[in-house]
Amino acid sequence: MSEINTFAQQQNEYIELVAEIMQIRARGEKPLACVRTYGCQQNVADSETIKGMLAMMGYDFTENPEDADFILFNTCAVREHAEDRVFGNVGAIKSIKKKHPSTLIALCGCMMEQEHIVNRIYESFPFVGLVFGTHCLHEFPKLLYKSLTGGKRQFLRGNDDLLVHEGLPKRRDGAFKGWLPIMYGCDNFCSYCIVPYVRGRERSRSSSAILEEARQLINGGYKDITLLGQNVNSYGKGLEEDISFSELLRKIDSIDGDYTLRFMTSHPKDCTHELIDTIAAGRHISTHLHLPFQSGSDRILKLMNRKYTREKYLETVNYAKKKIPEISLTSDIIVGFPGETEEDFKQTLSLVEEVGFTSLFTFIYSKRVGTPAAVMDDPTSDEEKSERFQRLIKLQEKIAAKRCASMVGTVQRVLFEEKAKKDGIINARTSGNIVVEVEADQSVIGSFGEVKITDSGNWILKGRLNNNN
Ligand code: 5AD
Ligand code: SF4
Repeated sequence: MSEINTFAQQQNEYIELVAEIMQIRARGEKPLACVRTYGCQQNVADSETIKGMLAMMGYDFTENPEDADFILFNTCAVREHAEDRVFGNVGAIKSIKKKHPSTLIALCGCMMEQEHIVNRIYESFPFVGLVFGTHCLHEFPKLLYKSLTGGKRQFLRGNDDLLVHEGLPKRRDGAFKGWLPIMYGCDNFCSYCIVPYVRGRERSRSSSAILEEARQLINGGYKDITLLGQNVNSYGKGLEEDISFSELLRKIDSIDGDYTLRFMTSHPKDCTHELIDTIAAGRHISTHLHLPFQSGSDRILKLMNRKYTREKYLETVNYAKKKIPEISLTSDIIVGFPGETEEDFKQTLSLVEEVGFTSLFTFIYSKRVGTPAAVMDDPTSDEEKSERFQRLIKLQEKIAAKRCASMVGTVQRVLFEEKAKKDGIINARTSGNIVVEVEADQSVIGSFGEVKITDSGNWILKGRLNNNN
C-alpha cells in the first residue's frame, strides 16, 4: 500500500525561510538558479517540480551556470555514458565556484541514490555542497535551507520507498506539452537495469490526483499530455481503489478538450488486449505504442528477466496492428547483453524486420554495479558489440525510410511544435510521434492542424498545410 504525504504541510516553513534569506542576499534582485537535466522524462518531470519549489523560494532561472547563485544537475544512472557526462560537467564547473565562492553547487537524481557514486562525489568534488537522491525530492526546501545556513555540506539518500508525495509545485518547461507522472519506481528488476535500485518500489498516484492534474493541464491549454511511469501497464498495483491502467486511460480520455494523450513506458509482459482496445476506441489517445522488447532472443530475454517471449511480444504487436492499422510502434533495444551470441543478435534483427518499427532507441549494454547482469560472463568484445550495433542501425534506417515513404500522400493531424532550424519551417508531430517539417507561419505553434505529406526522409516527413489551416 502506498501512503500519501502532503508536501505543503512539511516544507512551507522552509520555503518561507529560504525566501527570506534570498531577499536579504539579493537586495531586490531575484537570485538565479541554473537547473540542468540528464536522462529520461521522469527526470524532466522531477526538474519541473524542483523548479516549482525554487520559484516559490524566490528564484528566477538562467541557462548559464556562470550567472547562477544556485547550480543543480539532475542526474541519470541508466548507462555509464550518462554518468561520465555528469562527472565531466561537474568537474568543469569547479572554476565557477572559484570565481564566485557563494554559488551553491548541488547534484540530485538517480546517480545520487548510489552509495559508490555519492562517496566519490564526497571525496573528489569538495565544492559540491548539496547532494540528494530521488527519494528526497520533497525535502529539497529543507535541504537547501540547511545548506544556506548551516555551513556544512548536505548529503541525503532516501528510503521512504512507499510514499507518494502530492501537492508539490511545478514550473513546467513547455506551454502546450506537459508531463504527467502517474506512478513512481519499478518492481521488475530486469537484470541489466539500475532503475529499481535508484527509484525504489513501484507506487501509483491515486486516480483522483491524476485526473485533477490532467484537467488542470487541459484547461490550461496543454495539447500534448504524456502519462509517465517506468511501467505504466502495472498502474494501480497497491492502491486501495481497484483500477487498471486501461481504466485510468479511459477516465482521462473522457475529459473533453482539444488534446492528445500519450503514455510511456509500456512493458510487453503487461500490455493487454484491453489496453490496445482502449487505444483503438480512444478519442484523444495517440496511435503510438512504445513497447521496448530489448532482445529478439528468448534465451537473452530470460537472462534479462523480462518475463515474456518473442512469441508473446509478436502476438501483442500483431493484435495492435490488426486493431489499429495505422499504429506507430517504437521500441528500446539493448545490443551486447552479457553472453549475447551472433545467433541471438540475428534474432533481434529478424524481430526488427518482422515488426517494422517507426523508430528505435538502441543502446549498447552498459554494466551497472549492483545489478545481476554485472556479474554475468561477457565474452563478446567491444568491437563486436559496436559492429552489431551498426548493423542494427543500418537495418532500422532502411525500415524507417520505407515506413515514412508509405505515408507520402496521406493527410495527417499534427501538433505544430517549434521553429525548425531552416527558415520558414515549423516542426510538427503526428499522432504516431513522427516529426513533419511544414512550411508555415510561426503563429501555428501550439495548435493542431492538418498537413498533407509530400515527401519523406529516413526519420522525418515533409508536408504542406492542408486547405483550412
Ligand atoms: N545498458 C544499456 N541500456 C540500458 N537500458 C537500461 N539499462 C541499460 C543498461 N544497463 C535501456 C533499456 C531501457 C532504456 C530506458 O534504457 O533499453 O528500456
Ligand atoms: Fe528498468 Fe526493466 Fe524497470 Fe524498465 S521495467 S525501469 S528496464 S527494471
